[in-house]
Amino acid sequence: MDWNIQKAPPFNCELEVPGDKSISHRAVMLASLADGPCVIRGFLPGEDCLSTKEAFRKLGVQIERPTNTTLIIHGTGGRFTAPDAAIDCGNSGTTMRLISGLLAAQSFQTRLTGDASLSKRPMKRIMDPLSLMGARITAEGEQERPPLLVEGGALRGIDYISPVASAQIKSAILLAGLFASGTTSVTEPHLSRDHTERMFEYFGIPLKREGLKVTIEGGARPQSRDFRVPGDVSSAAFWLVAAAAQPGARLRVNRVGLNPSRTGLLGTLARMGARVREFEHSNVGEPFGTIEIEGTALKATRIAGKEIPNVIDELPILSVAAALAEGTTVISDAAELRVKETDRLAAIASHLKAMGVAVVEKPDGLEITGGQPLRGARLDSLGDHRIAMAFAIAGLFAEGETVITGTDCVNTSYPDFYDVLRQVTALRTSPDPLIIRLGDDQTDIS
Ligand code: S3P
Repeated sequence: MDWNIQKAPPFNCELEVPGDKSISHRAVMLASLADGPCVIRGFLPGEDCLSTKEAFRKLGVQIERPTNTTLIIHGTGGRFTAPDAAIDCGNSGTTMRLISGLLAAQSFQTRLTGDASLSKRPMKRIMDPLSLMGARITAEGEQERPPLLVEGGALRGIDYISPVASAQIKSAILLAGLFASGTTSVTEPHLSRDHTERMFEYFGIPLKREGLKVTIEGGARPQSRDFRVPGDVSSAAFWLVAAAAQPGARLRVNRVGLNPSRTGLLGTLARMGARVREFEHSNVGEPFGTIEIEGTALKATRIAGKEIPNVIDELPILSVAAALAEGTTVISDAAELRVKETDRLAAIASHLKAMGVAVVEKPDGLEITGGQPLRGARLDSLGDHRIAMAFAIAGLFAEGETVITGTDCVNTSYPDFYDVLRQVTALRTSPDPLIIRLGDDQTDIS
């Protein structure tokens, strides 16, 4: 389905976003490894996380789904059975990279496949450290691209210095480390999202953190626990920018994850002039609470260095914020964007240019000069959910119609995005905030 988007007036709205994608993946993994049943609430029913759920089913884990967002996972204590066919990871790099760490230690062989986009993504980054641990992984595609053939076997701990700040690399190694002999540690150049570390701790696996280094001992298994997944701040980011860039707009996002390794965009938007406040309500496993934001005329900023891994998934929508801000925003140290679901630096540059924005594409970033009116355009998602959603938000600020094509990919992380977009932007006369709750099919609270 194509999305047809028109310029919209400022909104006053209160909403919830679906479960966090990164945390939903990890909840399924840790619960599957646990020594008994675990109830996971707030699970993201997006295609990526469903790929992870199906992968563990194929590995012999019994998983019930009493509601769309509730899973009851009967952990097997780390004993998996050989799947009778290849495991299809769909579009999900997180599924393929993290599960490789676990499969490298099993006593059987597994083939991991993915869709056209995942089949172009680099796997050497996990094959190298896992091979050092003794794993045998063969990439069937050129230049270590998927499909992957993982031949399980005995692993030994390593002390790995990762060249990239990547939670997927760190997590693949830590998951393999659970099954390895001795000590496994990973040091990264900057802190990437720390959901795996937090979830290990929550599920009772001892873990040592010293600065950018994380260490575990082999042999521990998660204890069965129930877990609630908070709303995904990366999904909230689209609405936060839509409100931040619109003087007069107000937005409150409830029950959203506030893990500091993920909320960098709040600081970025505050630097750009938005009025942002966050309130933490709970910190069981992961912190979550409320974010409030008020729109203003944004000004340019610089996004670089250690801030990049924190906002890595928000750079498409922050680039849209930059296009709406007065001055030139410089994004650098972000070459990782070239190996996401699509080459996001190229996609952002070409789409912003199509909307009339002055953009310079650099090998590791972008220079975006904002403040001029955007022009509606016909833009393809390029199979990338975050490109589709970021440019749908850009369309709310553009003169004329914006059409986004190829929007099915949004089902990977935010299936209801377009419904919410239509509600948020419908012309309203009431001064009271519009309240948008998750649909009944996504409510698991009794
Ligand atoms: C993720 C880590 C990030 C992020 C991705 C999800 C995760 O990737 O971009 O959307 O859940 O671990 P990298 O680890 O490759 O930076």
